[in-house]
Amino acid sequence: MQKQAGIINLSKFEDPRGNLTFIEEINHIPFAIERVYWIYDVPGGQVRGGHAFREQQELIIALSGSFDVLVDDGKTQQNFSLNRSYYGLYIPAGLWRQMQNFSTNSLALVLSSTPYNELDYIRDYQEFLSNCKP
Ligand code: TYD
Repeated sequence: MQKQAGIINLSKFEDPRGNLTFIEEINHIPFAIERVYWIYDVPGGQVRGGHAFREQQELIIALSGSFDVLVDDGKTQQNFSLNRSYYGLYIPAGLWRQMQNFSTNSLALVLSSTPYNELDYIRDYQEFLSNCKP
């Protein structure tokens, strides 16, 4: 399983009438989309999503505004600043991720490879670290 998070540069159709970007499952992202949710009206200074998923893969897009996603594989941490609606951050299963530094009126779209299942969450960081050990 791929353990590397990274930015996927989505197609952008620039047009004087307004720009357009799209995603097709499997074709542009390495999973089928089972669920879509979005995070909005985040008060300044709030942090969301401090957890890992056992199975879920996801793509996170800043549809509007900006925010940071801190991704942690148990050894190293990487910060991804999302501030363009044509950048998608792909996160495979098994990585800790936290969303923070939301700008005013930011809108975070999350495409997920699984339906919602609380049992898929690892919410305890120590448990996450012990799962990372080979
Ligand atoms: P959660 O993913 O725990 O958000 P965060 O990690 O930012 O705290 O979601 C918060 C709650 O929303 C969760 O406890 C249950 C509910 N929820 C759903 O019912 N379905 C969903 O698809 C998601 C993402 C959350």
